[in-house]
Amino acid sequence: MKSNHPVVLVTGGASGIGRAVVLAFARAGYAVGFTDIKSANAESLLNEIKNLGVEGLFILANHAQESDNQRVVDELMKKWGRLDAAVNNAGTEGQPGLLIENQTAANFKNTFSVNVEGVLWGMKYQIPALQKSGGGAIVNLSSVAGHVGIAGMAAYVASKHAVEGLTKVAALENAAKNIRVNAVAPGAIQTDMIDRFVGKGDSAERQGLISQHPIGRLGQAVEVAETVLFLCSKSASFITGQSLPIDGGWTTG
Ligand SMILES: NC(=O)c1ccc[n+]([C@@H]2O[C@H](COP(=O)([O-])OP(=O)(O)OC[C@H]3O[C@@H](n4cnc5c(N)ncnc54)[C@H](O)[C@@H]3O)[C@@H](O)[C@H]2O)c1
Repeated sequence: MKSNHPVVLVTGGASGIGRAVVLAFARAGYAVGFTDIKSANAESLLNEIKNLGVEGLFILANHAQESDNQRVVDELMKKWGRLDAAVNNAGTEGQPGLLIENQTAANFKNTFSVNVEGVLWGMKYQIPALQKSGGGAIVNLSSVAGHVGIAGMAAYVASKHAVEGLTKVAALENAAKNIRVNAVAPGAIQTDMIDRFVGKGDSAERQGLISQHPIGRLGQAVEVAETVLFLCSKSASFITGQSLPIDGGWTTG
């Protein structure tokens, strides 16, 4: 049966930025399908979605696998009969701190399979479902690392530059089909990913990261989520093929 609510798919939605995106769309009245490779936080998030008065669906999936991306869209279309928005959020920082002369094939392959193939295979199956639903919007999670270089992050930086390229191509290929495709490029956002990067407590590394942001702090996941929601809304109806920095001024100077 076709859902009366608009439907969004959020990949890697069980924690971090993805979780905040799930809740922002649920608050806006969307039925929310979310995926993750880990199911630990899924149940509590499904309860939060339910408490907001909309339906939720969790699907265990690995977005590095093409077949998982197909299965996820199939399950969503089977449940709700429509797809209005997709947020390709699942990502990995890979192994930070490796200079190019120390890079490994394993790090490059793993980072690219999640960050780049995840977005490519995601959009491959999301686009026909959006088209079937009369159009919609996709937002891909890029990063400041998709706009500038960061020493010691070759695989991650290259993968996010690739996300920027995929976003532009998908936007051009689908502009006439009423499907808009944009990216967001966050600075450092307080999630588990950042804790893995600089540790949980205060440290010289954390202060160094904060100092990249002229605003003088790390970002919050909800600040990314609200921007993603805006880009999928009618208010952004003439915006496509863009990558919007959400970085407290990191890439301004
Ligand atoms: N946190 C930041 O500072 C920051 C900055 C810029 C961009 N980003 C991007 O935002 C996205 C989310 O980052 P985050 O900080 O919330 O990360 P996170 O590690 O805190 O959460 C990522 C979530 O994605 C899931 N995931 C990882 N690989 C997956 C896969 N192959 N298939 C399905 N799910 C998978 C994880 O289990 C986790 O729940 C990533 O694409 C990341 O590169 C993050």
